[in-house]
Amino acid sequence: MTAGKSLVAITLALALQGTALALQAQEAPQPLVSIKELMEKTITPATNTLWNAFEPPTEEAQWQALEEAAVTLLSAAQAMSLGGTGPMDAAWVKEPAWQAFNQIMISAGRDALSAIRARDHDKLLAAGDVLYPPCESCHLQYNPGVVNSPQ
Ligand code: HEC
Repeated sequence: MTAGKSLVAITLALALQGTALALQAQEAPQPLVSIKELMEKTITPATNTLWNAFEPPTEEAQWQALEEAAVTLLSAAQAMSLGGTGPMDAAWVKEPAWQAFNQIMISAGRDALSAIRARDHDKLLAAGDVLYPPCESCHLQYNPGVVNSPQ
């Protein structure tokens, strides 16, 4: 390769890198759904599945369903920490208390997932107990009407 050609190659490579960086900057995750939708469509069904596992599962399919629920909960909780399309969502996620409640939910969700993968029903029940208080505390602080609404 001649010096001229390699200079062109380097320039081209730098230009491409610049474009990639610019695209990356633009692609800061934009929320696609509202926090209310995450609550109703993912977090509630997922946590109901986890909380309803009163008895140790007897079939592999039941463990699979629990694992699916825990993964759904974690994905939704992570999305919830970034924001949503609802009118208050961007303001809520800037609140340290909001993030703290969400973090407790995430931590309990991770414990639930580990328990499920270890097929440890007692640990799953323990994680389920830790999972409930952040729901209630966060609703009390940010959406008091939610607390006793029928679900
Ligand atoms: C970090 C805060 C936070 C946590 C944690 C949280 N929620 Fe919510 N939740 C909210 C907010 C805020 C709303 C209201 C959203 C809106 O109206 O835009 C809501 C709404 C809901 C709704 C809709 C209720 C209605 O009538 O509008 C349900 C159901 C719900 N949450 C269930 C749960 C469950 C179950 C958990 C725990 C596993 C949980 N939430 C954890 C903040 C939270």
